[in-house]
Amino acid sequence: MNQFNYRNGELYCENMPVKALAEKFGTPLYIYSKNMIIDKFKAIDEAFSSVKHTICFAMKANSNMEILKLMASLGAGGDVVSGGELYLALKAGIPANKIVYASVGKTDAEIKFAIESGIMAFNVESEAELEVMNQIAISMGKKAPVAIRINPDIDVHGHPYISTGKSINKFGIDIDKAFDVFLRAKEMAGIEIVGVHSHIGSQILNMDYYDAEAKKLYEFVTRLTDAGINIQHIDIGGGLGVHYPDIIPEYAEEKNDVPQPAQLANRVIDVLAPLGLEIVFEPGRSIVGEAGALIAQVVYIKHSRDTKFIVVDAGMNDLIRPSLYEAYHQIVPTTYMDDKFEIADVVGPICETGDFLAKGRKLPAVQRGDYLAVMTAGAYGYSLASNYNSRPRPAEVWVDGENAELIREREKVEDWG
Ligand code: LLP
Repeated sequence: MNQFNYRNGELYCENMPVKALAEKFGTPLYIYSKNMIIDKFKAIDEAFSSVKHTICFAMKANSNMEILKLMASLGAGGDVVSGGELYLALKAGIPANKIVYASVGKTDAEIKFAIESGIMAFNVESEAELEVMNQIAISMGKKAPVAIRINPDIDVHGHPYISTGKSINKFGIDIDKAFDVFLRAKEMAGIEIVGVHSHIGSQILNMDYYDAEAKKLYEFVTRLTDAGINIQHIDIGGGLGVHYPDIIPEYAEEKNDVPQPAQLANRVIDVLAPLGLEIVFEPGRSIVGEAGALIAQVVYIKHSRDTKFIVVDAGMNDLIRPSLYEAYHQIVPTTYMDDKFEIADVVGPICETGDFLAKGRKLPAVQRGDYLAVMTAGAYGYSLASNYNSRPRPAEVWVDGENAELIREREKVEDWG
């Protein structure tokens, strides 16, 4: 259920008026609906309930400590991509044996740390990495648990910067070569083969791509079994798309039919269940994306020839998705006055032409001091925020019914010098 709704013209997150949160905690401000995060996780977990499975939350989407602790309490595992993420996942109480670790550039220190921690699997991205991992594990007198990441060469037709499963991308080992790599890995004293991994991209809305991925994985695993290589799990990656919502439908420019987790799970389970192996799924965006919004305050209204600019106090350093991927985020006022609208660019204060949250957007007339909510910012929002232009990163608050709690303080420039 969407926990961001209007009541008598006021935008609410659960039972809290968003404007009151902005006034109390200041802007720019990330706010999250705790119950929406819980519901999203449970729906995904439930969708896979007919098979043995682990839902490894892709922490890159949002690694706030309170959100990670919530994930741990719900029984989630973690999909990590750095020693830093592994550290945070363990600190949050996510059991090591539910953590999978992908990344094309794991360092020796990171590999050691993960072996010592006892993670579920490394998702190995190259032969070179496999060799290094083998040597490190041998020197530690241990075996590294490995799932080899195959690159299935599936084009999910998304933004090129978030596509990962095509053969031209840097991720994984070419599916045609991967079989031989498994054979080599089998002979390595420091390697224990535990699974196979693939990830085809992000913001995927067409479930046929998962079906294609599952079929490639099925064939591949059957070949492995025939060659006497037995694995325990199949990791299908993450990537389930979300709704970039239309809580004021007349202002929504993009609508997408978002598949429910069960639609994904059913397609994958239909193909893979006969193998009788554990299925690992690594969702990030579909757990936290819709549950978060970035709140900004209007600083100035500016007219320049034919363009109206709404200058707000949040910029590309706070939410880079529009600048980096030309991503669409609906922007709505926290107080909805009437249905008159204007076309405007919503821009931030950063000294870059690419610093915008929306271009040519249909928006209700707003004034200096009003607040705007940039929706669906819970994933890859704060986690991609930076200090560019020496701007402290925003505060984060989550709402549980009538209660709002600060879950990360706003940074302060004074801490830097
Ligand atoms: N597993 C692997 C191996 C991944 O590379 C990713 C995301 C995920 C899981 C989680 O995907 P999700 O369920 O969140 O789609 N910054 C971009 C998205 C980059 C995704 C990178 N990999 C954005 O803001 O759209």
